[in-house]
Amino acid sequence: VESLTVGELAKKLHREPSEIIKKLMGLGVMATINQELDKDTIELIGTDYGVEVEEEIVIDKTDIENYVDEDKEEDLKERPPVVTIMGHVDHGKTTLLDSIRHTKVTEGEAGGITQHIGAYQIDANGKKITFLDTPGHAAFTTMRARGAQVTDITILVVAADDGVMPQTKEAISHAKAAGVPIIVAVNKIDKEAANPDRVMQELTEFELVPEAWGGDTIFVNVSALDGTGIDELIEMIQLVAEVEELKANPNKLASGTVIEAELDKGRGAVATLLVQSGTLKVGDPIVVGATFGRVRAMVNDLGRRVKEVGPSTPVEITGLSDVPQAGDQFRAFADEKTARHIGEARMSKHREANLAKTSRVSLDDLFDQI
Ligand code: GTP
Ligand code: MG
Repeated sequence: VESLTVGELAKKLHREPSEIIKKLMGLGVMATINQELDKDTIELIGTDYGVEVEEEIVIDKTDIENYVDEDKEEDLKERPPVVTIMGHVDHGKTTLLDSIRHTKVTEGEAGGITQHIGAYQIDANGKKITFLDTPGHAAFTTMRARGAQVTDITILVVAADDGVMPQTKEAISHAKAAGVPIIVAVNKIDKEAANPDRVMQELTEFELVPEAWGGDTIFVNVSALDGTGIDELIEMIQLVAEVEELKANPNKLASGTVIEAELDKGRGAVATLLVQSGTLKVGDPIVVGATFGRVRAMVNDLGRRVKEVGPSTPVEITGLSDVPQAGDQFRAFADEKTARHIGEARMSKHREANLAKTSRVSLDDLFDQI
Protein backbone atom coordinates (compact mmCIF):
# COMPACT_ATOMS: atom_id res chain seq x y z
CA VAL A 1 0.00 0.00 0.00
CA GLU A 2 1.16 3.48 -0.79
CA SER A 3 -1.01 5.10 1.85
CA LEU A 4 -3.43 4.22 4.61
CA THR A 5 -5.53 6.23 7.00
CA VAL A 6 -4.80 5.99 10.70
CA GLY A 7 -8.00 4.00 11.12
CA GLU A 8 -7.07 1.55 8.35
CA LEU A 9 -3.59 1.07 9.74
CA ALA A 10 -4.97 0.45 13.24
CA LYS A 11 -7.28 -2.18 11.80
CA LYS A 12 -4.42 -3.90 9.97
CA LEU A 13 -2.35 -3.97 13.12
CA HIS A 14 -5.32 -5.11 15.23
CA ARG A 15 -4.86 -2.09 17.50
CA GLU A 16 -7.10 0.69 18.68
CA PRO A 17 -6.81 3.86 16.55
CA SER A 18 -6.12 5.81 19.75
CA GLU A 19 -3.03 3.71 20.34
CA ILE A 20 -1.74 4.50 16.85
CA ILE A 21 -2.52 8.18 17.35
CA LYS A 22 -0.48 8.13 20.57
CA LYS A 23 2.42 6.42 18.80
CA LEU A 24 2.27 9.03 16.06
CA MET A 25 2.35 11.78 18.68
CA GLY A 26 5.46 10.14 20.05
CA LEU A 27 6.94 10.52 16.58
CA GLY A 28 5.89 14.15 16.49
CA VAL A 29 3.01 13.57 14.11
CA MET A 30 -0.37 14.93 15.13
CA ALA A 31 -3.00 12.87 13.35
CA THR A 32 -6.72 12.18 13.36
CA ILE A 33 -8.33 8.84 12.64
CA ASN A 34 -9.10 9.71 9.01
CA GLN A 35 -5.72 11.17 8.25
CA GLU A 36 -3.76 9.62 5.39
CA LEU A 37 -0.32 8.39 6.34
CA ASP A 38 2.52 8.08 3.85
CA LYS A 39 4.52 4.95 3.25
CA ASP A 40 7.46 5.99 5.44
CA THR A 41 5.26 6.72 8.44
CA ILE A 42 3.40 3.44 7.99
CA GLU A 43 6.72 1.62 7.92
CA LEU A 44 7.93 3.44 11.02
CA ILE A 45 4.85 2.44 12.96
CA GLY A 46 5.04 -1.05 11.51
CA THR A 47 8.63 -1.46 12.64
CA ASP A 48 7.53 -0.41 16.08
CA TYR A 49 5.19 -3.39 16.16
CA GLY A 50 7.83 -5.80 14.87
CA VAL A 51 8.97 -7.19 11.55
CA GLU A 52 6.01 -9.46 10.96
CA VAL A 53 3.66 -6.52 11.10
CA GLU A 54 5.81 -4.66 8.63
CA GLU A 55 5.65 -7.65 6.33
CA GLU A 56 1.92 -7.74 6.57
CA ILE A 57 1.68 -4.16 5.38
CA VAL A 58 4.19 -4.52 2.57
CA ILE A 59 2.60 -7.75 1.37
CA ASP A 60 -0.77 -6.09 1.20
CA LYS A 61 -0.86 -4.89 -2.41
CA THR A 62 -0.07 -8.36 -3.67
CA ASP A 63 -2.30 -10.15 -1.22
CA ILE A 64 -4.80 -11.80 -3.49
CA GLU A 65 -6.54 -13.21 -0.42
CA ASN A 66 -7.48 -9.65 0.41
CA TYR A 67 -9.35 -8.98 -2.80
CA VAL A 68 -13.00 -8.59 -2.01
CA ASP A 69 -15.46 -9.88 -4.54
CA GLU A 70 -18.37 -7.55 -4.52
CA ASP A 71 -21.06 -8.92 -6.76
CA LYS A 72 -24.38 -7.38 -7.51
CA GLU A 73 -27.30 -9.54 -6.46
CA GLU A 74 -28.49 -9.87 -10.07
CA ASP A 75 -25.08 -11.20 -11.17
CA LEU A 76 -25.24 -14.10 -8.75
CA LYS A 77 -26.26 -17.41 -10.26
CA GLU A 78 -26.99 -20.74 -8.62
CA ARG A 79 -23.87 -22.89 -8.35
CA PRO A 80 -23.35 -26.58 -7.54
CA PRO A 81 -22.67 -27.52 -3.90
CA VAL A 82 -19.13 -28.60 -3.02
CA VAL A 83 -19.43 -31.69 -0.88
CA THR A 84 -16.60 -33.14 1.20
CA ILE A 85 -16.68 -36.77 2.21
CA MET A 86 -15.13 -37.35 5.60
CA GLY A 87 -14.94 -40.17 8.09
CA HIS A 88 -12.75 -42.73 9.77
CA VAL A 89 -10.21 -44.80 7.84
CA ASP A 90 -11.79 -47.67 5.89
CA HIS A 91 -15.35 -46.60 6.66
CA GLY A 92 -15.93 -46.46 2.91
CA LYS A 93 -15.45 -42.86 1.75
CA THR A 94 -13.83 -43.72 -1.57
CA THR A 95 -16.16 -46.64 -2.22
CA LEU A 96 -19.13 -44.38 -1.54
CA LEU A 97 -17.82 -41.86 -4.03
CA ASP A 98 -17.25 -44.66 -6.55
CA SER A 99 -20.79 -45.77 -6.08
CA ILE A 100 -22.01 -42.22 -6.58
CA ARG A 101 -19.95 -41.83 -9.72
CA HIS A 102 -20.63 -45.40 -10.92
CA THR A 103 -16.93 -45.71 -11.40
CA LYS A 104 -14.17 -47.63 -9.82
CA VAL A 105 -11.58 -45.27 -8.46
CA THR A 106 -10.56 -47.53 -5.56
CA GLU A 107 -9.31 -50.30 -7.85
CA GLY A 108 -6.70 -47.99 -9.28
CA GLU A 109 -5.46 -46.79 -5.90
CA ALA A 110 -2.19 -48.11 -4.59
CA GLY A 111 -3.05 -50.36 -1.67
CA GLY A 112 -6.60 -48.99 -1.63
CA ILE A 113 -5.58 -45.99 0.42
CA THR A 114 -6.53 -42.57 -0.84
CA GLN A 115 -3.28 -40.82 -1.70
CA HIS A 116 -4.56 -37.44 -2.68
CA ILE A 117 -7.72 -35.45 -2.88
CA GLY A 118 -9.87 -36.52 -5.73
CA ALA A 119 -12.24 -33.87 -6.97
CA TYR A 120 -15.19 -34.96 -9.03
CA GLN A 121 -18.41 -33.62 -10.43
CA ILE A 122 -21.58 -35.55 -11.11
CA ASP A 123 -24.88 -34.76 -12.75
CA ALA A 124 -27.96 -35.80 -10.80
CA ASN A 125 -31.57 -34.89 -11.52
CA GLY A 126 -30.35 -32.25 -13.95
CA LYS A 127 -28.08 -30.56 -11.42
CA LYS A 128 -24.39 -30.81 -10.71
CA ILE A 129 -22.72 -31.76 -7.44
CA THR A 130 -18.98 -31.43 -6.80
CA PHE A 131 -17.35 -33.95 -4.50
CA LEU A 132 -14.03 -33.86 -2.71
CA ASP A 133 -12.64 -37.13 -1.37
CA THR A 134 -10.07 -36.46 1.34
CA PRO A 135 -7.05 -38.43 2.44
CA GLY A 136 -7.81 -38.50 6.15
CA HIS A 137 -8.11 -34.99 7.46
CA ALA A 138 -4.65 -33.56 7.15
CA ALA A 139 -5.45 -31.74 3.94
CA PHE A 140 -8.67 -30.36 5.35
CA THR A 141 -6.82 -29.11 8.42
CA THR A 142 -4.11 -27.48 6.30
CA MET A 143 -6.69 -25.78 4.16
CA ARG A 144 -8.68 -24.54 7.11
CA ALA A 145 -5.55 -23.34 8.88
CA ARG A 146 -4.78 -21.33 5.76
CA GLY A 147 -8.24 -19.82 5.76
CA ALA A 148 -9.50 -21.67 2.73
CA GLN A 149 -13.11 -22.61 2.90
CA VAL A 150 -14.04 -24.86 0.04
CA THR A 151 -16.79 -27.06 1.41
CA ASP A 152 -20.51 -26.36 1.48
CA ILE A 153 -21.70 -29.68 2.85
CA THR A 154 -19.93 -32.49 4.72
CA ILE A 155 -20.92 -36.11 4.29
CA LEU A 156 -19.89 -37.90 7.44
CA VAL A 157 -19.36 -41.56 6.61
CA VAL A 158 -19.69 -43.91 9.57
CA ALA A 159 -19.46 -47.66 9.11
CA ALA A 160 -22.50 -49.30 10.68
CA ASP A 161 -20.41 -52.24 11.91
CA ASP A 162 -17.75 -50.06 13.50
CA GLY A 163 -19.48 -46.95 14.82
CA VAL A 164 -17.96 -43.65 15.90
CA MET A 165 -14.16 -43.76 15.80
CA PRO A 166 -11.42 -41.16 16.49
CA GLN A 167 -11.40 -39.71 12.98
CA THR A 168 -15.19 -39.60 12.99
CA LYS A 169 -14.94 -37.23 15.95
CA GLU A 170 -12.24 -35.20 14.19
CA ALA A 171 -14.39 -34.87 11.11
CA ILE A 172 -17.32 -33.66 13.21
CA SER A 173 -15.24 -30.99 14.89
CA HIS A 174 -13.80 -29.84 11.53
CA ALA A 175 -17.24 -29.55 10.00
CA LYS A 176 -18.58 -27.72 13.04
CA ALA A 177 -15.64 -25.32 13.14
CA ALA A 178 -16.24 -24.54 9.48
CA GLY A 179 -19.95 -24.06 10.11
CA VAL A 180 -20.77 -26.57 7.41
CA PRO A 181 -23.96 -28.68 7.50
CA ILE A 182 -23.40 -32.39 8.10
CA ILE A 183 -25.27 -35.25 6.45
CA VAL A 184 -24.56 -38.61 8.07
CA ALA A 185 -24.14 -41.57 5.72
CA VAL A 186 -24.34 -44.72 7.81
CA ASN A 187 -22.42 -47.05 5.53
CA LYS A 188 -21.99 -50.81 5.18
CA ILE A 189 -25.57 -51.57 6.21
CA ASP A 190 -25.34 -54.67 4.02
CA LYS A 191 -23.06 -56.23 6.61
CA GLU A 192 -24.27 -58.83 9.07
CA ALA A 193 -22.80 -56.89 11.98
CA ALA A 194 -24.33 -53.57 10.89
CA ASN A 195 -26.03 -51.68 13.68
CA PRO A 196 -27.21 -48.31 12.36
CA ASP A 197 -29.18 -47.57 15.54
CA ARG A 198 -26.01 -47.74 17.56
CA VAL A 199 -24.36 -45.22 15.20
CA MET A 200 -27.31 -42.84 15.69
CA GLN A 201 -27.10 -43.33 19.44
CA GLU A 202 -23.38 -42.62 19.49
CA LEU A 203 -23.73 -39.50 17.35
CA THR A 204 -26.34 -37.90 19.61
CA GLU A 205 -23.39 -37.22 21.93
CA PHE A 206 -22.11 -34.83 19.25
CA GLU A 207 -25.47 -33.12 18.82
CA LEU A 208 -26.11 -35.00 15.62
CA VAL A 209 -29.65 -36.13 16.33
CA PRO A 210 -31.76 -37.74 13.61
CA GLU A 211 -35.06 -36.16 12.64
CA ALA A 212 -36.88 -39.29 13.78
CA TRP A 213 -35.58 -38.61 17.29
CA GLY A 214 -36.54 -34.96 17.30
CA GLY A 215 -33.28 -33.58 15.97
CA ASP A 216 -32.45 -31.95 12.66
CA THR A 217 -29.60 -34.03 11.29
CA ILE A 218 -30.20 -36.01 8.13
CA PHE A 219 -29.15 -39.65 8.40
CA VAL A 220 -29.14 -41.95 5.40
CA ASN A 221 -28.45 -45.67 5.62
CA VAL A 222 -26.32 -46.70 2.69
CA SER A 223 -24.27 -49.49 1.29
CA ALA A 224 -21.53 -48.14 -0.91
CA LEU A 225 -20.99 -51.72 -2.05
CA ASP A 226 -24.46 -52.70 -3.27
CA GLY A 227 -25.81 -49.19 -3.91
CA THR A 228 -28.54 -49.13 -1.26
CA GLY A 229 -29.55 -45.61 -0.27
CA ILE A 230 -27.25 -43.83 -2.74
CA ASP A 231 -30.10 -42.13 -4.61
CA GLU A 232 -31.61 -40.98 -1.34
CA LEU A 233 -28.24 -39.61 -0.22
CA ILE A 234 -27.94 -37.60 -3.45
CA GLU A 235 -31.48 -36.26 -2.99
CA MET A 236 -30.61 -35.18 0.54
CA ILE A 237 -27.48 -33.38 -0.67
CA GLN A 238 -29.57 -31.51 -3.21
CA LEU A 239 -32.16 -30.68 -0.56
CA VAL A 240 -29.54 -29.22 1.78
CA ALA A 241 -27.89 -27.36 -1.12
CA GLU A 242 -31.22 -25.77 -1.99
CA VAL A 243 -31.67 -24.53 1.57
CA GLU A 244 -28.15 -23.08 1.54
CA GLU A 245 -28.93 -21.04 -1.61
CA LEU A 246 -25.41 -21.35 -2.97
CA LYS A 247 -24.60 -18.67 -5.52
CA ALA A 248 -21.65 -17.20 -7.38
CA ASN A 249 -21.04 -14.76 -10.22
CA PRO A 250 -19.83 -16.75 -13.25
CA ASN A 251 -19.30 -13.67 -15.42
CA LYS A 252 -15.95 -12.40 -14.25
CA LEU A 253 -12.32 -13.46 -13.87
CA ALA A 254 -11.99 -16.62 -11.82
CA SER A 255 -10.81 -17.04 -8.26
CA GLY A 256 -10.73 -20.03 -5.95
CA THR A 257 -8.55 -22.50 -4.07
CA VAL A 258 -5.84 -25.04 -4.85
CA ILE A 259 -7.01 -28.55 -3.98
CA GLU A 260 -3.75 -30.28 -4.78
CA ALA A 261 -0.61 -29.69 -6.81
CA GLU A 262 2.44 -31.60 -7.92
CA LEU A 263 5.38 -31.52 -10.26
CA ASP A 264 4.78 -33.75 -13.27
CA LYS A 265 7.83 -34.90 -15.21
CA GLY A 266 6.35 -34.15 -18.58
CA ARG A 267 3.88 -31.38 -17.89
CA GLY A 268 5.65 -29.36 -15.21
CA ALA A 269 3.64 -27.88 -12.36
CA VAL A 270 0.15 -29.37 -12.33
CA ALA A 271 -2.51 -27.99 -9.99
CA THR A 272 -6.06 -29.07 -9.30
CA LEU A 273 -8.04 -25.92 -8.69
CA LEU A 274 -11.54 -25.44 -7.43
CA VAL A 275 -13.04 -22.45 -9.20
CA GLN A 276 -15.24 -20.77 -6.61
CA SER A 277 -16.15 -17.58 -8.37
CA GLY A 278 -16.04 -16.41 -11.97
CA THR A 279 -15.01 -18.46 -15.00
CA LEU A 280 -11.49 -19.73 -15.64
CA LYS A 281 -10.39 -19.88 -19.28
CA VAL A 282 -7.45 -21.33 -21.14
CA GLY A 283 -4.96 -18.51 -21.69
CA ASP A 284 -5.92 -16.61 -18.53
CA PRO A 285 -2.99 -15.01 -16.70
CA ILE A 286 -3.20 -16.32 -13.16
CA VAL A 287 -1.61 -15.87 -9.74
CA VAL A 288 -1.69 -19.03 -7.62
CA GLY A 289 -0.37 -18.81 -4.07
CA ALA A 290 3.23 -17.72 -4.42
CA THR A 291 3.47 -18.56 -8.09
CA PHE A 292 1.94 -17.41 -11.35
CA GLY A 293 1.61 -18.20 -15.01
CA ARG A 294 -0.87 -18.51 -17.82
CA VAL A 295 -3.39 -21.33 -18.00
CA ARG A 296 -1.91 -23.49 -20.73
CA ALA A 297 -4.36 -26.38 -20.67
CA MET A 298 -7.27 -27.45 -18.51
CA VAL A 299 -8.45 -30.99 -17.91
CA ASN A 300 -11.66 -31.85 -16.08
CA ASP A 301 -12.26 -34.71 -13.61
CA LEU A 302 -13.03 -37.08 -16.46
CA GLY A 303 -9.66 -36.38 -18.05
CA ARG A 304 -11.16 -34.36 -20.89
CA ARG A 305 -9.73 -31.10 -22.11
CA VAL A 306 -11.94 -28.10 -21.44
CA LYS A 307 -11.68 -24.48 -22.53
CA GLU A 308 -13.49 -22.84 -19.64
CA VAL A 309 -14.98 -23.76 -16.27
CA GLY A 310 -17.38 -21.95 -13.98
CA PRO A 311 -18.01 -21.81 -10.22
CA SER A 312 -17.78 -24.98 -8.05
CA THR A 313 -15.87 -26.81 -10.78
CA PRO A 314 -12.64 -28.68 -10.12
CA VAL A 315 -10.10 -28.54 -12.92
CA GLU A 316 -6.50 -29.51 -13.43
CA ILE A 317 -4.33 -26.82 -14.97
CA THR A 318 -0.82 -26.55 -16.35
CA GLY A 319 1.20 -23.46 -17.18
CA LEU A 320 2.39 -22.36 -13.74
CA SER A 321 6.02 -21.48 -13.17
CA ASP A 322 6.16 -23.32 -9.86
CA VAL A 323 4.14 -25.80 -7.76
CA PRO A 324 1.65 -24.10 -5.42
CA GLN A 325 0.37 -25.61 -2.16
CA ALA A 326 -2.99 -27.10 -1.27
CA GLY A 327 -5.11 -24.38 0.25
CA ASP A 328 -3.45 -21.58 -1.73
CA GLN A 329 -5.80 -19.05 -3.24
CA PHE A 330 -5.71 -18.27 -6.93
CA ARG A 331 -6.95 -15.38 -9.00
CA ALA A 332 -7.03 -14.78 -12.73
CA PHE A 333 -6.13 -11.38 -14.11
CA ALA A 334 -7.05 -9.55 -17.29
CA ASP A 335 -3.47 -9.04 -18.42
CA GLU A 336 -0.28 -10.99 -18.01
CA LYS A 337 1.69 -7.96 -16.85
CA THR A 338 -0.38 -7.58 -13.69
CA ALA A 339 -0.29 -11.31 -13.00
CA ARG A 340 3.47 -11.38 -13.47
CA HIS A 341 3.97 -8.29 -11.31
CA ILE A 342 1.86 -9.63 -8.45
CA GLY A 343 3.21 -13.15 -8.90
CA GLU A 344 6.83 -12.05 -8.73
CA ALA A 345 6.20 -9.85 -5.71
CA ARG A 346 4.53 -12.77 -3.97
CA MET A 347 7.36 -15.12 -4.89
CA SER A 348 10.02 -12.87 -3.40
CA LYS A 349 7.86 -12.19 -0.33
CA HIS A 350 7.49 -15.91 0.06
CA ARG A 351 11.24 -16.39 -0.16
CA GLU A 352 11.87 -13.58 2.33
CA ALA A 353 9.32 -15.02 4.72
CA ASN A 354 11.03 -18.39 4.51
CA LEU A 355 14.41 -16.77 5.09
CA ALA A 356 13.02 -14.85 8.05
CA LYS A 357 11.66 -18.09 9.44
CA THR A 358 15.06 -19.75 9.09
CA SER A 359 16.88 -16.89 10.76
CA ARG A 360 14.35 -16.84 13.60
CA VAL A 361 14.90 -20.53 14.15
CA SER A 362 18.67 -20.14 14.23
CA LEU A 363 18.34 -17.26 16.70
CA ASP A 364 16.23 -19.46 18.93
CA ASP A 365 18.82 -22.19 18.63
CA LEU A 366 21.44 -19.68 19.66
CA PHE A 367 19.49 -18.76 22.76
CA ASP A 368 18.98 -22.41 23.56
CA GLN A 369 22.72 -22.89 23.61
CA ILE A 370 23.35 -20.00 25.98
P1 GTP B 1 -9.32 -44.43 3.41
O1 GTP B 1 -9.30 -43.64 2.13
O2 GTP B 1 -8.13 -45.33 3.54
O3 GTP B 1 -9.54 -43.60 4.63
O4 GTP B 1 -10.57 -45.45 3.35
P2 GTP B 1 -12.03 -45.19 2.82
O5 GTP B 1 -12.86 -44.61 3.90
O6 GTP B 1 -12.00 -44.48 1.54
O7 GTP B 1 -12.57 -46.67 2.64
P3 GTP B 1 -12.68 -47.49 1.28
O8 GTP B 1 -13.72 -46.92 0.40
O9 GTP B 1 -11.33 -47.69 0.72
O10 GTP B 1 -13.28 -48.86 1.85
C1 GTP B 1 -12.62 -49.64 2.81
C2 GTP B 1 -13.09 -51.08 2.72
O11 GTP B 1 -14.48 -51.18 3.08
C3 GTP B 1 -12.99 -51.67 1.32
O12 GTP B 1 -12.58 -53.00 1.41
C4 GTP B 1 -14.40 -51.60 0.79
O13 GTP B 1 -14.71 -52.59 -0.16
C5 GTP B 1 -15.23 -51.82 2.05
N1 GTP B 1 -16.55 -51.18 1.97
C6 GTP B 1 -16.80 -49.90 1.67
N2 GTP B 1 -18.14 -49.68 1.66
C7 GTP B 1 -18.73 -50.85 1.97
C8 GTP B 1 -20.09 -51.25 2.13
O14 GTP B 1 -21.05 -50.50 1.98
N3 GTP B 1 -20.29 -52.56 2.47
C9 GTP B 1 -19.28 -53.43 2.64
N4 GTP B 1 -19.61 -54.68 2.99
N5 GTP B 1 -18.00 -53.10 2.50
C10 GTP B 1 -17.71 -51.81 2.19
MG1 MG C 1 -10.41 -43.51 0.56
